[in-house]
Amino acid sequence: MRGRSGVEGGHVQGRPVTVSPTGNKSLTGGIDVAVRGERILAAALAAAGRRRFRNRIAGQAARYWSAPTGSAWEANSHWRNGIGDQAWLEVGDDHWKIYETFARALNSPSPNTVMEWGAGGGANAVAFAPHAQRFIAADISQENLDECVRQVRATCTTPVETRRIDLACPEQATVGLAGSCDVFLCLYVIELTTGANAVRAILKIARTVLAPGGTALVQIKYHTSDRRTRGFAGTAYDRNFASTTTFTIEEFWNLAAECGLTPRLITLVPENRLDSRYAYYALTIPAAVQPAPPDERLLDVKYTEFAATFNADVADAERRAARGNYISRREVETTVDD
Ligand SMILES: C[S@@+](CC[C@H](N)C(=O)[O-])C[C@H]1O[C@@H](n2cnc3c(N)ncnc32)[C@H](O)[C@@H]1O
Repeated sequence: MRGRSGVEGGHVQGRPVTVSPTGNKSLTGGIDVAVRGERILAAALAAAGRRRFRNRIAGQAARYWSAPTGSAWEANSHWRNGIGDQAWLEVGDDHWKIYETFARALNSPSPNTVMEWGAGGGANAVAFAPHAQRFIAADISQENLDECVRQVRATCTTPVETRRIDLACPEQATVGLAGSCDVFLCLYVIELTTGANAVRAILKIARTVLAPGGTALVQIKYHTSDRRTRGFAGTAYDRNFASTTTFTIEEFWNLAAECGLTPRLITLVPENRLDSRYAYYALTIPAAVQPAPPDERLLDVKYTEFAATFNADVADAERRAARGNYISRREVETTVDD
C-alpha cells in the first residue's frame, strides 16, 4: 500500500559515531584505550537511542492500527468503501490467482482451513473463504475483524472466526491453533511492521499454525541496490508506515528459512494499482512422513528369517539346558558314588 506521505529516500540509519583514522594511530597505549572506550560508549549511546526510537514507533503502530480514526484509516485497512469496489476486488482476485499458481506448482490439495494475519477489511477473505471449509481472520482492531466478517458473510457460507492480535504478544492470538491451518496469508502487512523482529514473530506464528504440508503466502515490499527504495520508519509511524520495513529478495528468503519455513517459490509484482516492488513467497513446512504400506513379499522373507533365527535360538537354548541338566546329573551321581 502507498504511504500516506509518499516520502521516499533520505534513509538515515543511526550509526555509531566513528573516530577519524588518525585518532587511532596514537603511539601511546593509554590514548588507544581511551579512543576504544569512546567508540564503545558512542556505539552504546547510539544503540540505546535506536532502541528508544524503535519502542516509540512500535507503540505508535499499535495505537494506529487498534481503532479507526477516519476515512484514511479505512482506506489504509483496505475496506471496500475505503479503496473502492474495483481496487478492493482486485486485491483478493490477484492474491487468489497467485495462490492458485503456487498451489498447482506445489501440488497442494485445496485448503481446509485458511488463516489471514492482518485481514483488514476482508479483501482477501472474500476471495479465499469460498474455497475453504473454515476461515480465521486475525487483526489488531476489532472494527477490522467485524468488517471482514461482514464481507465474508455477504459472499459465502464458509464459517469465519476472528482472533484479535495484541502486538505486545501476537502469539496469544493463535492459542489452540497449532498445526491446524493449511494456508496462512500475510498480505500488505510486512511493510507496515516495525522491523525484522516483528516480521520474525509473524513467520514463527505461520510456522506454528500451519499443518504439515501447509503453505504460507507472504507478501513483502522489496528494496533494491537503489538506497531510495529502502524502507525506514518516519519520525512518527503514520508519516511513512507503508514503507517502514523492506527486505531484499534474498534477505527475506533467508529470514523465512531461519524461522523454520521452507521458501519454495517466488513471484514479483514490480508495480500494481496500489504501490510498487512487491514479492510474494510460497513458504511451506514439510508434509508429515506417511509410513509406506507394508510390502507383503518383503514381510514374508523377513518373517521366515525371523522364524529361522527364533527356531535356532530356541533349539540352542534347549541344547544348552539339556547339557546343563546332564552335567549337573553327572556331578550328583559322581558325588553319590564317592
Ligand atoms: C493494508 S491493510 C491489509 C489488509 C489485508 N491483508 C489486505 O491485503 O487487504 C493492513 C492490515 O494489517 C494490520 N496490521 C498492521 N500491522 C500488523 C502486524 N504487525 N501484525 C498483524 N497485522 C497487522 C492492520 O490492522 C490492517 O488491518
